[in-house]
Parts: sequence; structure tokens; C-alpha cells
Amino acid sequence: MNNVIEISDLTVVYPSGGRRLFAGEKLTAVDNVTLSVEEGVSLGIAGESGSGKSTLVKAAGNLLKFGNPGVNITGKIFLNTDGKKHDILNIPGGKMKELRKHVQFIFQDPNSSLNPRLTVGEIIEEPLRYFSACGKTERKEKALKLLGMTGLEEDLYSRYPHELSGGQKQRIGIARALAPEPKVLIADEPLSSLDVSVQAQIIGLFKKLKDEFNLTLIFVSHDLSVVENLCNEVAVMYLGKILEQGKCSAVLSSPKNPYTKALISSVPVPEYRAERKERTVLQGDIPSPVNRPAGCVFCTRCPVAADLCFKTPPDLQPLEDGRLSACHFTQS
Ligand SMILES: Nc1ncnc2c1ncn2[C@@H]1O[C@H](COP(=O)(O)OP(=O)(O)OP(=O)(O)O)[C@@H](O)[C@H]1O
Ligand code: SF4
Ligand SMILES: [Mg+2]
Repeated sequence: MNNVIEISDLTVVYPSGGRRLFAGEKLTAVDNVTLSVEEGVSLGIAGESGSGKSTLVKAAGNLLKFGNPGVNITGKIFLNTDGKKHDILNIPGGKMKELRKHVQFIFQDPNSSLNPRLTVGEIIEEPLRYFSACGKTERKEKALKLLGMTGLEEDLYSRYPHELSGGQKQRIGIARALAPEPKVLIADEPLSSLDVSVQAQIIGLFKKLKDEFNLTLIFVSHDLSVVENLCNEVAVMYLGKILEQGKCSAVLSSPKNPYTKALISSVPVPEYRAERKERTVLQGDIPSPVNRPAGCVFCTRCPVAADLCFKTPPDLQPLEDGRLSACHFTQS
């Protein structure tokens, strides 16, 4: 299978003057991450708040340079599309605008991501106007079709976002993202502003669309049960690093990295817990990304940390079953 996105040695450092930073401080939000996403795969990105999930996916879609003056991004990100490999951190702005059609985002809060002055029809047609040569009639036909595919009635076409429920707004956000027929859909915590019952419906919608469009999906969620339900693969992040990555079925049912074990132990889902052989309680807070531990990033909270962990960072290494884990003491 082909990789749609290939990220290598990606590091993102926010400059002084950013959120919660004092003058002169630098914050490493993503640290030397290497990750590929194959065509048709759904990859979940999990981890506690502040672990760098949003920064990683925004970088993957080359969105970070906007609204983050002075951010320092090093490494490579390739988008493979149209039979070419595009080095998206190093291409001219005009070319990047063309490529945006291939990587579409769905954001956490549909209230702030939909323009309140546009009708639903105009919102869904906007990317078609921008990225395709469709005429007015064809755009309307496609918008109505997308409304149907995302489980919405056609009569919403002329309505405004303030007339819709949260779940309907998120479906509109999904329809808009699908309109230019992207290669990759990136959803950053798209459920967290929705009621639990609506969350279940939107998960169902993602599952259906994933199959219908053979989508490559990158799905950010702090909720491991959602990741397990929706994704084939998972990358578990902590303090800007991936600590474990592999098939969801392997990583979530039998985690090998001490951080993944602790994270899974903290999931408040009874049936999940029943299968757990051992419990690790995740104590304390994630350290400041401004003053990161010198060795393993998890050493200050890891229940099995040894001297080596405080001095030397472990590499993300393949285990026998093909998953990757960054731990000096991971056993296959
Ligand atoms: N624009 C910014 N300027 C400075 N620091 C930032 C900026 N955006 C994020 N950060 C910091 O970078 C780190 C990673 O943030 P990020 O939002 O990527 O994490 P996250 O895993 O998505 O968290 P959450 O689950 O809360 O959304 C955090 O310490 C955050 O405070
Ligand atoms: S390297 Fe050490 S601190 Fe890090 S996860 Fe493994 S045992 Fe824990
Ligand atoms: Mg986030």
C-alpha cells in the first residue's frame, strides 16, 4: 500500500510570546516525530492534553505557519498525491493552496468553524468554488448529495448555522471537508463539544463515510474507546513524542509501553477494564514542555523508571509483532 503522508524527524517549537510562555522560553510541542499513514488507513492519535496531538496534525496539513508567527518547524512532511511526492513544508504558497484540497480538516468546535453569515449550502459549496471547476448547478447538486450522505435533510441547504443543533453543525463540517474529495481527512477532537448520544451518531457517520470513500483518516482523540471503535491504527503521544504505535487491536488490548498501559488503565469504561490484567495509576501532571526531562519523556511519572531512563531517551523501536514502542524495557 502507498503512504499518503510521510512525516520524518518533525520537531515543532513555539517561540517566546506564545501561550503561557515567558520571554525567551521555547516550547517543544512535537519532538522528532516520524510517522507514515497508508492509504485507506484510519490512524488515531491519542494522549493526554498538551501531548502535542493538535500541533502534530496541524503540521501534517501545513497549517501551523498561519497564526503562529515565529514557530520553528524542522523535519520533512511529504504528501503523496497526483502520482507525486510533495515536500509540503518547502513548497511555494500558491502550490500549497492547490494541495489543500487533498488534506481537509474537521475541527473540535463546529460553532466557531462554520461562518455564521453563510447558508449551509454556501458553506458546503465554498471548497467546490475554490478547488473545482464546477458550475453553480453542479455545485448545488453536489452539496445536496453531501447533505444526504452526512445524514441531513436537503431542506437545511438554505438554513444558517445558528438554526442548527451541535450534531447537525458537525455533520455540515464533515460535508464541507468531504466536498473537494480529499485524500486525507484530519479530524481533531471532533466529538468533544457534542452530547454523548450525538457523539455515538457522529462516530457511526465517520465509520460509514470511511468505507464509502475509502478515506485515509487521522483522528485525534483523548478517548481511547473512540479510537478503538473507529481506527485500525493508533499512535500514543506524550510530551511531543510517540511512545507506542501500531494496530489498535494489539496496542489497546495488550499495550507494551508503560505510558500506554497507564493511559488505558485510566479509561473509565468497565468492559475495557475487565480485560486488563494489571492496573497502573497515572499520577501527577504531564511536565512542562518548556523544561522537558533529559532522558525518557515519561520518566517523571513512570512506575518502572530506572536510572537509565533519567539519562538516555529511548528510541521508538519495532517489537516482534510489528508495533513500535519507545521504552528501554519494553518486552515483546
Ligand atoms: N500557539 C501556541 N503557542 C505556544 N504554545 C502552544 C501553542 N499551541 C499549543 N501550544 C502548546 O504546545 C503543547 C502541545 O499543545 P497541543 O495543543 O498540540 O496539544 P494537544 O495534545 O492537542 O492537547 P489537547 O488535548 O488539550 O488539545 C502544549 O503545551 C500547548 O500549551
Ligand atoms: S524508558 Fe523508562 S521511564 Fe520511559 S517508559 Fe520505559 S521504563 Fe518508563
Ligand atoms: Mg488538541
